[in-house]
Amino acid sequence: MSLEEIKKATKLIKDSSKTMVLTGAGISTESGIPDFRSPGTGLWENIDPMEALSTSVLYNNTEKFYKEGFNMLLNMTDAEPNRAHYALAEMERLGYIKGVITQNIDNLHYKAGSKYILEVHGNTREGSCIKCGTIVDLNILINKVNNKEIPPKCDKCGGILRPDVVFFGDMLPDDFNIALQEVETSDLLIVIGSSLMVSPVNYIPQVAKKLIIINMEPTIMDSLAETTIHDKAGKVLETIIEELEKE
Ligand code: APR
Repeated sequence: MSLEEIKKATKLIKDSSKTMVLTGAGISTESGIPDFRSPGTGLWENIDPMEALSTSVLYNNTEKFYKEGFNMLLNMTDAEPNRAHYALAEMERLGYIKGVITQNIDNLHYKAGSKYILEVHGNTREGSCIKCGTIVDLNILINKVNNKEIPPKCDKCGGILRPDVVFFGDMLPDDFNIALQEVETSDLLIVIGSSLMVSPVNYIPQVAKKLIIINMEPTIMDSLAETTIHDKAGKVLETIIEELEKE
C-alpha cells in the first residue's frame, strides 16, 4: 500500500457524489473465514464447489448436501466482524459511501453496523421451503438436521427446506438487480476482497463509471480500475478514513 495509492483513492472518494462498495470473501479472511480462491488457503482448493454448494447436489442428492455442504455454511455463523467491516460501517455513517453490495453470506456487514446492504448471494439467516416458499429462520433447519430430520421438511406442506444462500445453478435474488441499478447511478465503485471471477456479479464493476480495487492479489479487472491497492482490506480502509478525515 503506497501513500500515492491512498491519496488517489481518497481523492476519488471525495470527488464522488455517490459511491457504492462491492465486497467478496477476502474482506472476511481477517475474521477467520477462509476465502475461496486464495492460493493455498482458498476453500475451493480442497472442495469441489459443484459438489458442495450447487443446486444439483441440493435437489438430486439432498442427504449428501445436508451431510457436507450445509456444515460449510454453519462454519461462518459465529465469526465476528473485523476492522474492514467496521471501517465500511463508519464510511457509511460519515457519508462517504451509500452502502455495501456483498457476495458474502456471513452476515458480518450487518454485525459491524452497516445499514444499506445488498446480499447478492443470499444470506445464512433464513431458509425456505422449495415447495410452498414459506420462509423460516435458519435455526429451524439447523434444529431439524441436528434431530436427524434429513432433509429438513416444511411444517406447513412437508416440502424440503433449503438455506436461502445462492448456490451454483440458482437465479440471483432481487438484490442483484438493485445493486446493478445502484452502481449504474453511482460515480464510483470500490471493490474489496474479491477475485471477480464469478459471474454475473463480476459484471457489476464493468458498469461502474470509476473503479477502485482493494485486493491482496491482482484481479482480472485491475485494468478497469482508476487505482488498485494490493494489500489487506482492514489496514487500507482505516488509512483511507484517516486521510478522508484530515481536512
Ligand atoms: N484483504 C484484501 N484482499 C484479500 C484478503 C484481505 N485480508 N484476504 C483475501 N483477499 C483476496 C484474495 O487475494 C482473493 O483474490 O480476496 C479475494 C477473494 O476472492 P475469492 O476467494 O474468489 O472470493 P469471492 O470473489 O468473494 O468469490 C465470489 O465465488 O464460490 C463463489 O459464491 C462464492 O461468493 C463467492 C463467489
